[in-house]
Amino acid sequence: MPLPKAELHLHIEGTLEPELAFALAERNGVNLPYADTEALRRAYDFADLQSFLDLYYALMAVLRTEEDFADLADAYLARAAAQGVRHAEIFFDPQAHLARGVEMGTVVEGLWRALGESEAKHGVSTRLIMCFLRDESAESALETLVEAKPYLHRITGIGLDSAEVGHPPVKFREVYEAAAALGLRRVAHAGEEGPAAYITEALDVLGVERIDHGLRCVEDPALVARLVRDRIPLTLCPLSNVRLRAVDTLADHPLPAMLDAGLLCTVNSDDPAYFGGYAGDNFDAVHAQLGLKQEQLRELARNSFVASFLDDDEERRAR
Ligand code: ADE
Ligand code: ZN
Repeated sequence: MPLPKAELHLHIEGTLEPELAFALAERNGVNLPYADTEALRRAYDFADLQSFLDLYYALMAVLRTEEDFADLADAYLARAAAQGVRHAEIFFDPQAHLARGVEMGTVVEGLWRALGESEAKHGVSTRLIMCFLRDESAESALETLVEAKPYLHRITGIGLDSAEVGHPPVKFREVYEAAAALGLRRVAHAGEEGPAAYITEALDVLGVERIDHGLRCVEDPALVARLVRDRIPLTLCPLSNVRLRAVDTLADHPLPAMLDAGLLCTVNSDDPAYFGGYAGDNFDAVHAQLGLKQEQLRELARNSFVASFLDDDEERRAR
């Protein structure tokens, strides 16, 4: 039995497996520039975050209808459940779909078809987190929030993702303030490729409750002390960090030192179709290649529920 866990850092578009990509391409008459699934898989050799994002956005062309988004989410939930995930807080990137002429309602209601039946069908409770693309403008983020207003009963929080360096958190101060006023929870990617200062800024300026990745906090001892003191969760993604070359090898990952420092670390899959594994695979990898002991794996699983947006009763039921 895999350890029961919550997944808190998961881009639903990053769960698009090559087989489903080809099936959706056929269903929607979209031409993919790859001969077959093997040729597509061979393209998953990334030099950095941007080289991954280029393929990630290009493959989204196959996602067109509510049914497509429902099939995508249902496939993820089935795989996650098989690896012990009991609760999933799922990112989506509406701007990447709006730019292709796919409406907000198609995305949210499509995802909701799968999320709404997930507890009964897969035993996985869910939350939806709408991310803004940080390499798009602040105005575009604000317009996206307005576009999402009819769907806010489906959306728990907001996040910030895409190309990090050169797009500091402060650029999105206004949209985070507007989202807070609407009662939305706030998280942001910071310190994946960007500097530790972006983590500090996400906390101070955007008022985030969790940091997605946060890997580079280790470069700033005062920041580490603050994250420990304030129990700010970090949603780490070890296999992603290897594939996007944030670390040279998994053995070089600072996760053991981060746990020893008292940081509230969680382990997640980020974009599992692209990075070689789902949540349980990430747990297995840090056990096998980083030497984390069973007690540390249990701590990571416990942290994942503590850091989730579940209330106390929901948390007890999910564990
Ligand atoms: N979008 C999807 N995956 C991402 C990641 N690891 N970092 C930033 N943006 C992303
Ligand atoms: Zn991510």
